Amino acid sequence: MDGLFAPGLFAGKVVLVTGAAGGVGSAVARLLASLGATVVATDLSETALKALPAALHIPADLRAVAQCEEVISAALQGCGRIDALVNAAGVWVEGPSDAAQEEDWARVIDVNLKAAFFLSSRAIPALSETRGTILTIASDAGIVGNAGAAIYCASKGGVVLMTRALARELAPKGIRVVALCPSDIRTPMLQYQADRYGGGDPDGYLARLLDHYPQGADARFLSPEEVAAQVAFLLSPASAGVTGASVMVDFGLTAGY
Ligand SMILES: NC(=O)c1ccc[n+]([C@@H]2O[C@H](COP(=O)([O-])OP(=O)(O)OC[C@H]3O[C@@H](n4cnc5c(N)ncnc54)[C@H](O)[C@@H]3O)[C@@H](O)[C@H]2O)c1
Repeated sequence: MDGLFAPGLFAGKVVLVTGAAGGVGSAVARLLASLGATVVATDLSETALKALPAALHIPADLRAVAQCEEVISAALQGCGRIDALVNAAGVWVEGPSDAAQEEDWARVIDVNLKAAFFLSSRAIPALSETRGTILTIASDAGIVGNAGAAIYCASKGGVVLMTRALARELAPKGIRVVALCPSDIRTPMLQYQADRYGGGDPDGYLARLLDHYPQGADARFLSPEEVAAQVAFLLSPASAGVTGASVMVDFGLTAGY
C-alpha cells in the first residue's frame, strides 16, 4: 500500500486502536503510525503490544465497562485528545446452536458488541471536541447469516445497527460512525477458526470458506494490510460524507447469489 496515502495524513491526530496486538489491529496501528498518527494501542496482553509503534500501550480486558472507561481515560491523560476510535478487538465462536454455551454468548457479545459500544460511549465527549470518528470492524457476518455462527452473527449484526443509530445520534456533534465489513482476513483469528473448528483439517476448512466467494479459482482471503488501508481511507477527510455506513470489503460475498 506504499504511496497510497500522503505521508503526514494523520499528523497531530490521536487514534485509539483496540485489538492492537491482533492481525487487523496491528496492521491498522502500523499504517496509521506511519502516516503520522499518535497511536494508542490496547489489547489483553502488554507483551504483544510492545512491538507496536504506539505512543501508549494499554493492557485491558474490554469485557468490563470499567476497563473500557480506564482505556479512554488513559488515552486522554497520555495524549490529551482522541480523534478516532478503531474497535478492532474481536473473538470468534462457531458450532451448532443447540450446543451453545452461555459463556460463549457472553464472551463474544461482550468483546464484539458491548466493548465497542461502551468505548464509543465513553469517548463521545473527547470525540465531540475533535469532531472525530468511531470505526468498528464488523464483518460480512453482520450482513448475511452464517450457518453455525449465530452468536458471532448476532454480535456483528448488532455492531452494524448500533453504528447506524450512533451515526444519527452523534452527527449533530460532528462525530462520524462507520462499520467496516470485511470478508475473511488472513489473521490469527482465521487460523484459530481453522485449527479449532476444522475437524483436524484446517486447510479443508479454509478451502470451504473460499468456496462461497464468486471469484471461483481466484477467490482469496484479504490481507490485514488491505483492511488497514480501508480504515485509513474511512478515517481520512476523503470520507467526510461517510457515516452510518456498513462498508463492504468482501469480494461481493454479500452482494447476492
Ligand atoms: N479474521 C477474519 O477473517 C475477520 C473477518 C471479518 C471481521 N473480522 C473482525 O476483525 C476484527 C479483528 O480480528 P482479527 O482477525 O484481527 O483477529 P485477531 O484474533 O488477530 O485479533 C483480535 C484481537 O482482539 C483481542 N481481544 C480479544 N478479546 C479481548 C478482550 N476481552 N479485551 C481486549 N482485547 C481482546 C485479542 O487479544 C486479539 O489481539 C474482529 O472484530 C473480527 O471479528 C475478522
